Amino acid sequence: MTLSTERDISSRALELERLLAAVAHRVVAYVADVDKPDARIGDPVPPKQLARILGNQLSLPNVGGGQAEFLAVLDEILRHSVVTWHPGFMDKLYASTNPVGVATDLLLSILNTNSYIYSVAPVLTLIEKKTSHEYAELFGFRSPWSGGITLPGGSASNTHSLIVARTILYPDTKLKGNGDYKFVIFTSCHGHYSVEKAAISLGLGSESVWAIPVDKDERMRVDILEEKILEAKTQGRTPLYINATAGTTVYGSYDPFDEIAVIAKKYNLWFHVDGSWGGNVVFSDKLRYRLKGIELADSLTVNPHKMLGVPLTCSFLLAPDHRIFQKASSLRAPYLYHSDVTDGEDFDMGDSTMGCGRRADSLKLFLGWKWYGKEGYAKRVEQAFGVTAHLANLVSNRPGFCLISSNPPPCLQTCFYYSPSGHPMENDAAYNTMVTRAIAYELQACGRFLVDYAPPTKADGKGEFFRAVVNAPTTTRETVEELVEAIERIGKDLKL
Ligand SMILES: Cc1ncc(COP(=O)(O)O)c(C=O)c1O
Repeated sequence: MTLSTERDISSRALELERLLAAVAHRVVAYVADVDKPDARIGDPVPPKQLARILGNQLSLPNVGGGQAEFLAVLDEILRHSVVTWHPGFMDKLYASTNPVGVATDLLLSILNTNSYIYSVAPVLTLIEKKTSHEYAELFGFRSPWSGGITLPGGSASNTHSLIVARTILYPDTKLKGNGDYKFVIFTSCHGHYSVEKAAISLGLGSESVWAIPVDKDERMRVDILEEKILEAKTQGRTPLYINATAGTTVYGSYDPFDEIAVIAKKYNLWFHVDGSWGGNVVFSDKLRYRLKGIELADSLTVNPHKMLGVPLTCSFLLAPDHRIFQKASSLRAPYLYHSDVTDGEDFDMGDSTMGCGRRADSLKLFLGWKWYGKEGYAKRVEQAFGVTAHLANLVSNRPGFCLISSNPPPCLQTCFYYSPSGHPMENDAAYNTMVTRAIAYELQACGRFLVDYAPPTKADGKGEFFRAVVNAPTTTRETVEELVEAIERIGKDLKL
């Protein structure tokens, strides 16, 4: 029975009820369709052609069209969007969310709470603090003060960690900026580009980021890191910050955190771990050995919106002592932040960021964690690692394929070449790039897969290769078997 037949309700409640019922009908049908065997992933349509297809739906009217107009546009958006719920969506380091994620996003929209100050977001503030603390504890930050904040994405969290590092290690910079300091930041050559963007934002320039080479397993060379720190010092520069990565973007490698922590301590550098992608192995007792030494970090980024299927955006910046965030960023704007923080326990979360208004993203992890439990998340991650190992095995055993990742791969990306002529590594880089791109395009055009590709970062690389990402629980063993067969089929018919 609907609300409106039970009793009189206000017109806006009625409007909400009608709209939600219509939307629910459509989005449930959308997900049901994706689960049919012939579901398509979304066609590759260039922007101008898509604009023509959408036509009037893209224009903004003088007179509003109400629910009918809304639903017409919604149908078009669903029809022409890439289907992240599709098992063949293996393109990026995230995929669809799940029913609890959708419902949580709806709840956040209903509340429309701005979680910058406690007085307007009391429950959601407590949830953010509790979730951050429990999450930080999982990573081994065991102090009662451990915890953190949410920020709008891994890049924002990495950037904020650099702001915090600079302010905590060199407090005069909060007032005076970089002054005469010539700071240097270290990251592996596989580190995410957000580290360089962070350096740009802080006025350090991207040249202040020194890329450290990697070993054969794509992990930061700690011996070279130390050499480079010493070199920076001899040049009169100030080594400031080391970014180590838990799950690099292309190869999925995990840097040696315990060894890097020793170097950071020896030279008094800030030790940050970017676990945006691979940090969530922390939920699995079987897989978390990859994070050895992460508990020695000064700060840590981790994104539930990637491996855990929590809706975008949900990223945490965690630390052994969350009070550093308030210390580094606070201006206590008196018109907004009224609470007393003399003991360092701040419930006005916005003051610990460089922003003001903020969505309560922590709720999305909190309710997901409530729903699935630590065990459910462990199972999800372990299943994905199992499917990835299966894909790597398939690729390493078939003619024409050449696996670049180790077997099993360190994370959920399987990197490989394929050549219809049988021996990809013997072909030249331009040929391999052309084949990779052409097959990736056809995989999407046939409606079954979206798989990305990347250039090698090593000088001896042989052109662009596939990077297929397993997104559990949708990508299964059958999905990756179908992928390998599709690549072979398309490759054989390829006209180059
Ligand atoms: C290792 C790593 N760090 C940071 C990011 C950026 O995260 P976000 O897209 O949430 O800004 C990514 C994105 O894929 C990543 O792979």
